Amino acid sequence: MTEHQSTSEFDPSIVPVVELNDGNTIPQLGYGVFKVPPEDTEALVAEALKVGYRHIDTAAIYGNEEGVGAAIAKSDVPREELFITTKLWNDRHEDVEAALQESLDKLGLDYVDLYLIHWPSTSTGNFKAAWKGLEQAKEQGLAKSIGVANFTVKNLEDLEMVSKIRPAVNQIELHPYFARWKEIDAGRVHGTKVESWGPLGQNKTDLLENEDILAAAEAHSKTPAQIVLRWHLQNNVIVFPKTATPSRMRENFDIFDFELTDAEMLAINDLDLGEEGRVGSDPDEFS
Ligand SMILES: NC(=O)c1ccc[n+]([C@@H]2O[C@H](COP(=O)([O-])OP(=O)(O)OC[C@H]3O[C@@H](n4cnc5c(N)ncnc54)[C@H](OP(=O)(O)O)[C@@H]3O)[C@@H](O)[C@H]2O)c1
Repeated sequence: MTEHQSTSEFDPSIVPVVELNDGNTIPQLGYGVFKVPPEDTEALVAEALKVGYRHIDTAAIYGNEEGVGAAIAKSDVPREELFITTKLWNDRHEDVEAALQESLDKLGLDYVDLYLIHWPSTSTGNFKAAWKGLEQAKEQGLAKSIGVANFTVKNLEDLEMVSKIRPAVNQIELHPYFARWKEIDAGRVHGTKVESWGPLGQNKTDLLENEDILAAAEAHSKTPAQIVLRWHLQNNVIVFPKTATPSRMRENFDIFDFELTDAEMLAINDLDLGEEGRVGSDPDEFS
């Protein structure tokens, strides 16, 4: 264990790494900062690094890249141990080079580990043009890996026809009420790993009070949120819950000392409501 790791409450190396289709690796658990207010971001990301998180998921549109960057700058965690994702907003599809440079400047970084097209935005954007910009950013070393978010299977197929590089990830809304088996299967075909956003249902559902989740929580002496996060891990997706509550940051990290049984996994898999389980925007309609 290196000196800085001893300052983390949990050993960061307990988090499994997932190999991407370009040979890079990503920690399977991270910390997401959607809706973390810009003025609180530095302190909360610093707290996350202290807990043991090494993977941070932000986006240009979140308005908090500067706070993420300030926490990184003040941290003693070496840059190569961090995995930083940011995303290209919908109105910059034809302006990738400048948009990425703005994000890098705000983050105070020379490169991001993962750069994503945030939405396909098919009615007003041009994701095929954006992807060419991301491919160039990868070639220039400004983004170590590149991927997409909120892409439908059709969007992935359309992209494949014009791309040199396949997306390393597709970041989509995914939780037990909206389990996305079709997209997970398509990811396998395209060599594209699935990342779950809204992994806890964004606290907009009764997921954390569901009886199957509560039964598993009781059986393992864990909280409902820990059960849901464990379900994501055991389904081999990448996950980065958001919380502005430091005690929950620790709770959400403390999921590596138990395993859901096959019966518990199947019971939670069965909670899928398909489209009715969606709590966020539909990519076919969002621009
Ligand atoms: N690509 C995209 O379009 C997209 C869209 C949405 C999100 N994302 C990414 O995915 C990340 C996670 O998704 P999300 O933030 O939308 O939703 P989420 O992580 O499913 O849910 C966040 C909500 O859950 C609460 N929470 C967190 N831990 C909890 C716990 N242990 N027990 C009970 N409640 C808990 C949080 O409350 P408190 O904060 O009050 O503790 C917050 O209200 C984002 O931060 C972002 O990085 C990407």
